[in-house]
Amino acid sequence: MNNQCNLCLPPMADASEHDELFAGRRILVNGPVIVGAGPSGLAVAAGLQQQGVPFIILERASCIASLWQNRTYDRLKLHLPRQFCELPYFPFPKEFPEYPTKNQFIDYLESYAKHFKISPRFNESVQSAKYDQKCGSWRIKTVVASDNSEIEYICSWLVAATGENAEKVVPEFEGLQDFGEVMHVCDYKSGEAYEGKRVLVVGCGNSGMEVSLDLCDYNAMPSMVVRSSVHVLPREILGLSTFQLAVSFMKWLPVWLVDKILVTATRLILGNLEKYGIKRPSAGPLELKNAEGKTPVLDIGTLDKIRSGKISIVPGIKKFFRGGVELENGEFLEIDSVILATGYRSNVPSWLKENEFFSVDGFPKTPFPNGWKGKAGLYAVGFTRRGLSGASFDAIRVSEDIGQIWKQELKQKNQGALSLANRRTCKS
Ligand SMILES: Cc1cc2nc3c(=O)[nH]c(=O)nc-3n(C[C@H](O)[C@H](O)[C@H](O)COP(=O)(O)OP(=O)(O)OC[C@H]3O[C@@H](n4cnc5c(N)ncnc54)[C@H](O)[C@@H]3O)c2cc1C
Ligand SMILES: NC(=O)c1ccc[n+]([C@@H]2O[C@H](COP(=O)([O-])OP(=O)(O)OC[C@H]3O[C@@H](n4cnc5c(N)ncnc54)[C@H](OP(=O)(O)O)[C@@H]3O)[C@@H](O)[C@H]2O)c1
Repeated sequence: MNNQCNLCLPPMADASEHDELFAGRRILVNGPVIVGAGPSGLAVAAGLQQQGVPFIILERASCIASLWQNRTYDRLKLHLPRQFCELPYFPFPKEFPEYPTKNQFIDYLESYAKHFKISPRFNESVQSAKYDQKCGSWRIKTVVASDNSEIEYICSWLVAATGENAEKVVPEFEGLQDFGEVMHVCDYKSGEAYEGKRVLVVGCGNSGMEVSLDLCDYNAMPSMVVRSSVHVLPREILGLSTFQLAVSFMKWLPVWLVDKILVTATRLILGNLEKYGIKRPSAGPLELKNAEGKTPVLDIGTLDKIRSGKISIVPGIKKFFRGGVELENGEFLEIDSVILATGYRSNVPSWLKENEFFSVDGFPKTPFPNGWKGKAGLYAVGFTRRGLSGASFDAIRVSEDIGQIWKQELKQKNQGALSLANRRTCKS
């Protein structure tokens, strides 16, 4: 069902005004085009496959789930319990632990793609996608990595599944370009190469916290920049997943009350973190997540290292100089390396020529749970700021919606063909 080109058109076969210069190949797609073969793209593909809808998946990398395979560190485990991370229609193997490792998750995704016979077109990066009013279709242009050739796909449905973390965020810091050894956390694998080194980790999200812990485990000396405030929660409360507890409480209680319970329990379990330089925001963790998309940190051991002084907390950065950094409090630190754990962003605005459904930050304007369907056959999967469970939620809705339209259109076509055949039979 994962049928690729259904009809290849020669260059310029049906050029419209806006792309007269396009010299590549054109492919008319019978079904939707999905951009991105991460968990979101795979989950929509599986749903479409189940409904008998053909599709094409375009992926810029050479593998599925490239974020997980190429841009995450070795010690990574899922932070949420397994039942919140499974994709639709295909459970995790029974032997998986409560918090599967990155490699287990990748194996699961490979089996998922195999099970649903999903074969993305790898090494094809989508450069632009635009709705052509004239022909009532989406025109999606890609560049093929191997030879830089261009392909244009023409289709009725476009599913954006390029993720919330498509591009690294690298803030500008004075002097950083002259500093020396600098890496974004997406390129960090383990602390092995950092033994004995003084490393500045910029950012205290889940990545910054976990990489600082990893550096400690390899006998490096990390200092972590905490420039504002952050909610750090225990991964578990009384042996139950904090996330799971929050989800259960939210069925019965308002968000502010759940936040109060979480913060109170956290204070009892983790103590006051302010004396270590970690301030708690005034808004609660769930309120902040809903309002600003800021994910709370789930502690998996970093706080112990902070308490014992193995990780030092430092304030924001003023500027870098060769071999060191000046902090906002005027302090100077000598450091050997910098790891930027400064987050990621969506890349949708760079390729989707549309501004009604998606906002300038690359997220749908309509909040969860209604941000999955735009106009003219445009869909979004995996932009809910709710991790893998949000992606699954979207994927089910998108594939069911397209499946329904597909079946209706098929029925109409068949009825049309039948009445034409009847008319022909009557005439003869
Ligand atoms: C370090 C880290 C750990 C995480 N851990 C968890 C966790 O434990 N639990 C959880 O729920 N969430 C976690 N997340 C969030 C995670 O991003 C999502 O859960 C999941 O990867 C989202 O899947 P996705 O398919 O939407 O996006 P992605 O996994 O980012 O996949 C998007 C795909 O689109 C491709 N793509 C992008 N642009 C283009 C283009 N122009 N043309 C073609 N292809 C393109 C990318 O190459 C990529 O393969 C983590 C994120 C990070 C960074
Ligand atoms: N095991 C897991 O499940 C796991 C592990 C890692 C990541 N993740 C997920 O992956 C996603 C990304 O996480 P992330 O930690 O990489 O990014 P993030 O949550 O966006 O955190 C970015 C951090 O960088 C800081 N920062 C940004 N610009 C800065 C600057 N100029 N100076 C100083 N600090 C700066 C931010 O501080 P401010 O808050 O002050 O802006 C913040 O602390 C999240 O959804 C996260 O939950 C999950």
